[in-house]
Amino acid sequence: MKKKFYITTPIYYPNARLHIGHAYTTVAADALARYHRLLGEEVFFLTGTDEHGQKIARTAQEAGLSPQQYVDQIVATIRELWATLAISCDDFIRTSEDRHRAVVQDVFRRLQASGDVYKGTYEGWYCTPDESFWPEGRLVDGKCPVCGRPVERVREESYFLRLEPYAKRLRQHILDHPEFIQPESRRNEMLAFIDSGLDDLSISRTSFDWGVPLPGDETHVAYVWIDALTNYITAAGFGSDPDRFARLWPADVHLVGKEIVRFHAIIWPIILLALKLPLPKTVFGHGWLLLDDAKIGKSSGNVIEPTALVERYGLDAVRYYLLREVAFGSDGSYSEPALILRTNVDLANDLGNLLSRTTAMLERFSAGTVPAPSGQSILRPIAEAAIAECEQALANLSLSDALVSLFRLVRAANKSIEDEAPWTLHRSQNPRLGTVLYDLAESLRVTAVALRPFLIDAPGKIYAQLGAGDISATSWKDTAWGGLKPGATVQRGAPLFPRIEDTDAAPSAPGEGALAARPEKATKERASDERAGVIAIDDFKRLQLRVARVLSAEPVAGSRKLLKLTLNLGGEQRTVVSGIAAHYEGPQLVGKDVILLANLAPATIFGIESGGMILAAKDADHLRLLTVDGSIEPGSPVS
Ligand code: MSP
Repeated sequence: MKKKFYITTPIYYPNARLHIGHAYTTVAADALARYHRLLGEEVFFLTGTDEHGQKIARTAQEAGLSPQQYVDQIVATIRELWATLAISCDDFIRTSEDRHRAVVQDVFRRLQASGDVYKGTYEGWYCTPDESFWPEGRLVDGKCPVCGRPVERVREESYFLRLEPYAKRLRQHILDHPEFIQPESRRNEMLAFIDSGLDDLSISRTSFDWGVPLPGDETHVAYVWIDALTNYITAAGFGSDPDRFARLWPADVHLVGKEIVRFHAIIWPIILLALKLPLPKTVFGHGWLLLDDAKIGKSSGNVIEPTALVERYGLDAVRYYLLREVAFGSDGSYSEPALILRTNVDLANDLGNLLSRTTAMLERFSAGTVPAPSGQSILRPIAEAAIAECEQALANLSLSDALVSLFRLVRAANKSIEDEAPWTLHRSQNPRLGTVLYDLAESLRVTAVALRPFLIDAPGKIYAQLGAGDISATSWKDTAWGGLKPGATVQRGAPLFPRIEDTDAAPSAPGEGALAARPEKATKERASDERAGVIAIDDFKRLQLRVARVLSAEPVAGSRKLLKLTLNLGGEQRTVVSGIAAHYEGPQLVGKDVILLANLAPATIFGIESGGMILAAKDADHLRLLTVDGSIEPGSPVS
């Protein structure tokens, strides 16, 4: 029987249109679902909407609509958004559906049978935007400790679930299963939370009726979080399809934002323990996308519409940016200039140029067909290592690391064009040419298959241009080296990712231009700040400054100003052309640690591709390179 993989996103509140923060979670889940499908597993990828509760009831009332009418409208926009982002969910659950109501009621009956439910009065505070109860002692400055918004005083009859009887078992489960709560920082937070003592949880509300009525006491509706969490078993067939449920449950990954880990890693497991059901294998709490240091969100008024970004930059660019830019698990800053830079550097320059250079050379030097390799392949071991690292990263849910591994191969392939100089091999009729060209085409083919979880259009276009056939027939196994058939006909096509000409990111040698790549199309505030010469910390953070050790430094033929430097950046080598020949002799520099602006868009200078800029100080007569005050590993970040 096939291995199964059940992955969920949180179900979203349809109180307003969704934004890029929600898209972030959903695109990440989609990439993991696509990866597991390529592995040949039976994947169940679930998303949906969390439609009950006080927040939705109020929003609908303000809009003059019934809650159901209100959510129906928003849910339609959410479905459209997921279609725009090519979200490949297998089910979309809505908590207002009958199939779900029946399960919530069943869960209540079972909780009551557990003996840990009692009726009482809830008196305390409630954060309506987060739909969460807070005792006085946990408030921060009288506000919600999670979102910082005002809380409301609530006093109403309620059913309660005792959590404390389950605390010890849950704690032990967390200790015994290091993969259960990830990343580790969230695991430690949850252990501390349990250790601070678990208050009985109010599991019903009586002050409004937009929810699932409790069986036997219909003046109560289920507390919206109990209702919402239950979606994960409803959709897997709990109570409706026992065979399916037995196959799918427990979920493999609940992907959630960090502020709702508590619900998924404490409350949900305790409900499951009370129901005598197995616990999900992993709850992964990712970080937030921030804009100017604030969480992007409806309440912050800093919403970014993903659909507009897709229209402007294309689906693959937006997906790539979301998955690559921020280490999954950490908070990260969103910025449009960073999206443009990422697209231009990684997708247009590195990947797109590799494809156009390779297909152009196959046309010119090999009559438009893929040649047979004969000699030693330089790129094969690099490709195999990149795929192995990518698999490891995906097993750890480190989506950005997975992409970093794949682009290491792309960069190595580009570098091999410079190193092997196929045009020279062609001129001298060197038989190595066939191997070099095959290597390039095969590296691109392997990359295309491995990019299928992340990108939607580019992998198929790469396949078509290489004459490799229909990419939809491939699986992860096709990332193995050697799949491209010699003799395949190359079909050169349009550039894969046209450069976005919105940036002023042209690289320059030291002393010949500005340091920072400055986006032209920035927000109004940013423009006025720039006029005042002030930049935000986020602007600075976009610069990837790293320590680089000089491996070699040679004059550039035909230029008196330039030196070509080969740099060691830890795991990677870079070539940089720098305008320092008047101030340094090449051999003087070998072994020196310099500071490299590593994410500058590459530029071709005197026919050499320069991948960054080294920093120098300059007065009227002198130019001196920046270095570090003592020994440090090459590749170390500078901040
Ligand atoms: N309805 C609950 C979840 C119930 S799951 C049983 C909910 N909904 S939500 O619409 O408010 O948020 C859903 C998810 O979107 C959360 O995981 C949240 O972290 C994520 N994001 C919302 N804004 C975000 C960012 N700015 N950045 C990253 N993710 C963010 O909570």
